[in-house]
Amino acid sequence: MPAPIDTAPLIDWTEIGPGATLAQCDWLDAARSLGAGTIDLVYVDPPFNTGATKRGEAGAFGDRWPTLDDFVSWLRDRLEATVPLLKPTGSLLLHLDWRTSHRARMVLDELLGEDRFVNHLIWTYGLGGSSPRRFARKHDDILFYCVDPDAYWFEPPMVPATSRRMAGQLKKATDVLDIPSLNNQAKERVGWPTQKPLQLLEMLIGACCPPDGVVFDPCCGSGTTLVAGRTLGRRVIGSDIDAKAIGVATERLTSLPRTPS
Ligand SMILES: C[S@@+](CC[C@H](N)C(=O)[O-])C[C@H]1O[C@@H](n2cnc3c(N)ncnc32)[C@H](O)[C@@H]1O
Repeated sequence: MPAPIDTAPLIDWTEIGPGATLAQCDWLDAARSLGAGTIDLVYVDPPFNTGATKRGEAGAFGDRWPTLDDFVSWLRDRLEATVPLLKPTGSLLLHLDWRTSHRARMVLDELLGEDRFVNHLIWTYGLGGSSPRRFARKHDDILFYCVDPDAYWFEPPMVPATSRRMAGQLKKATDVLDIPSLNNQAKERVGWPTQKPLQLLEMLIGACCPPDGVVFDPCCGSGTTLVAGRTLGRRVIGSDIDAKAIGVATERLTSLPRTPS
């Protein structure tokens, strides 16, 4: 008998200690298996369509689509399944770079509405090469959308002021997040390719997910979002298509000191 259409896929979600749930599966299946209106913050750092295989000591993932349109349609299908998971107070952060962020913004305008756009965050970092033919590319793009402009939860992160007048004081962070990327010596490095720094995720989660909220990262890789979320006492849900990524994320989560559930 053919499977009924629109049945939620059966995903083997595993509890990793209190407050953390993980599964090895496609983002699309993960999103389809979760309940509508249950998530406070989706943060997703998918492949960027760099055209290369991303390799690290702990694993690798393919990052190539035949065309930009193919990538956008892959992304669109998954975002479309993910948006309904958000609570009315919820938000979505989509982390990409210059290759695809312009197209992703159009997709999110279409799925959520132009008036749901909150910020185009720039994560600026120092590492990497330069070119004699252009300005060196030293930032990623994080698109911040909300479900309801009047209701979304936000707590502005505070950062040290840089002006002489405000020396020693804190000020609200701007949309340019100047946070170092992980170098080879970084203690938190676990060898997953394109691992993001905990400092970045802690700032984003602290700003965009309420203290008792739930964060979902459908392409969690080494689990940076999940570790940052648990450290801040949020409940976290992560998926990744790669078994090694889920292994690394599980190890990071289980070695965390106990945090509130
Ligand atoms: C940019 S990396 C995420 C890195 C992560 N933020 C970290 O700090 O370690 C993208 C991840 O997406 C995963 N991925 C690729 N295609 C996927 C899919 N269809 N569903 C779920 N995960 C996928 C890859 O295995 C990879 O771990």
